[in-house]
Amino acid sequence: MAIRFEDIKEHIGSRVVWDDRADIFTPEAARAIRAKVEERTVVVFPELDLTDAEQLAITGAMGEKVRLTARNNVQSNDEDVYQVTLDEKINPQPEYVLGTFFWHMDGITVDMPPPFATLLSCRIAPAVGGETEFASTYAAYEGLPAEEKQALEGLKAVHSVRASLSPIADAIPEKHRERVLGIGLVKEHPLVWTHESGRKSLVIGTTADHIVGMEVPAGRAMLIRLQEWAAQPAFSLRHKWTKGDFVIWDNTGAMHRAIPYDKSTGRMMHRTSIAGTEAVAA
Ligand SMILES: [Fe+2]
Repeated sequence: MAIRFEDIKEHIGSRVVWDDRADIFTPEAARAIRAKVEERTVVVFPELDLTDAEQLAITGAMGEKVRLTARNNVQSNDEDVYQVTLDEKINPQPEYVLGTFFWHMDGITVDMPPPFATLLSCRIAPAVGGETEFASTYAAYEGLPAEEKQALEGLKAVHSVRASLSPIADAIPEKHRERVLGIGLVKEHPLVWTHESGRKSLVIGTTADHIVGMEVPAGRAMLIRLQEWAAQPAFSLRHKWTKGDFVIWDNTGAMHRAIPYDKSTGRMMHRTSIAGTEAVAA
């Protein structure tokens, strides 16, 4: 039997249903899952309980595996699977994880196309907090009034990790604040990404610092309004993690963020990434 998909919300999210767990690891399943991620942005496998080897197998079957932390020059704790945790005994740069409390796209400040997809396995689910929220930037663009779409054409935003960490900069210990804020590159991206498929999405999130050629206050206000627009309930999804859940999302068509959680919850996620095949293009 093949795997099946059920929609979670109208504009975002599908849940995978299977009879035989082995059906998830076939080449046909990898193709179907990739297509579903492109179509529905977020794909949830409830309580799949993957091992790292299985997660790496799915990652590799869907595309080219990429080590994002190495690309971002972040100190990492594993060669192939990044352990997302606030425990500094495992993760030497927890500030990088605190930055995930704010809307962002992964790999937008590295010298390569943004990763196509991020894959997360929940190893320890917190009792309180730690949900992940996703906002479809395809649905958000699509839903804009025509005159607003028109107004965004040709605009570019400047992205940096420094901008995305600005809400927590003063909470980073001073001795390594500058090093953390200096992670990644400063990159200019069109606000509207016209994908090779012809579909359009917004390239937004807290990495977007200002809009090129626009007064900083007006540009920042526009970026915040677009973030709020994309995060509205119709275009977004909140996933409450249960241990063993596995979620794949289209990083090129979504922002995401974690609901704040405390280190004492022990929250632990294992992350892999699939390389993107196209640069952000207007
Ligand atoms: Fe992220």
